[in-house]
Amino acid sequence: MNIVIQDLRKDHHNFHRVLKLIRLLVNQSLDEDVKRSAVGGVLTLQMAFEYVHHYVSGVHHQVEDLVFEAYVRQSFPAHSDLERMRDEHDRLNSSVEEIKDDIARTIFTTYRNPQQVSMIKEKVSRYFQLQLNHMRFEELSVYPLVENALSINDWKEIIQQSPNTGDPAFGQQPIAVFKPLSDGVRRMENLGQRQEWLIR
Ligand SMILES: [Fe+2]
Ligand SMILES: [Fe+2]
Repeated sequence: MNIVIQDLRKDHHNFHRVLKLIRLLVNQSLDEDVKRSAVGGVLTLQMAFEYVHHYVSGVHHQVEDLVFEAYVRQSFPAHSDLERMRDEHDRLNSSVEEIKDDIARTIFTTYRNPQQVSMIKEKVSRYFQLQLNHMRFEELSVYPLVENALSINDWKEIIQQSPNTGDPAFGQQPIAVFKPLSDGVRRMENLGQRQEWLIR
């Protein structure tokens, strides 16, 4: 397995963990009476979407789009799987943008409108499913396809063009601001939520 695909798969593993935390937090934190609520939960939820926006949309999807471009440059016939991947990136990125703004609008309100809360929950649940299916589809269809098709030089070029940014929460040089997120994920896993939130 080449190093680009290896890193993309590693990313998926961590995104999956973040998605499970998002699902847990969205169901726990938003419903709470603001006065009693664990504000920390909502802040972590907000941070999770900042992470997704910054790293998943801003770095991971960009690297995959570079893979798409390298494939097309080789004059391979357009492949519907790769086109599907790129279309889903657009949908996922704009959905994250929307949810991030919705949460920012809701987070410090003194009264959370139940309609607003259920709208956010619905959007998060759609996003959750789409991102999960997207990752499965890439792992099963797209990655094997490009791994066989691209040359060592293509991969070198992809590495050169890739944003030089590691995972800010789970990478080798995590950024302090995302520490509550990685701590939240580990806490959830240590509390034995792993089974409960296991996605079948
Ligand atoms: Fe992707
Ligand atoms: Fe991906």
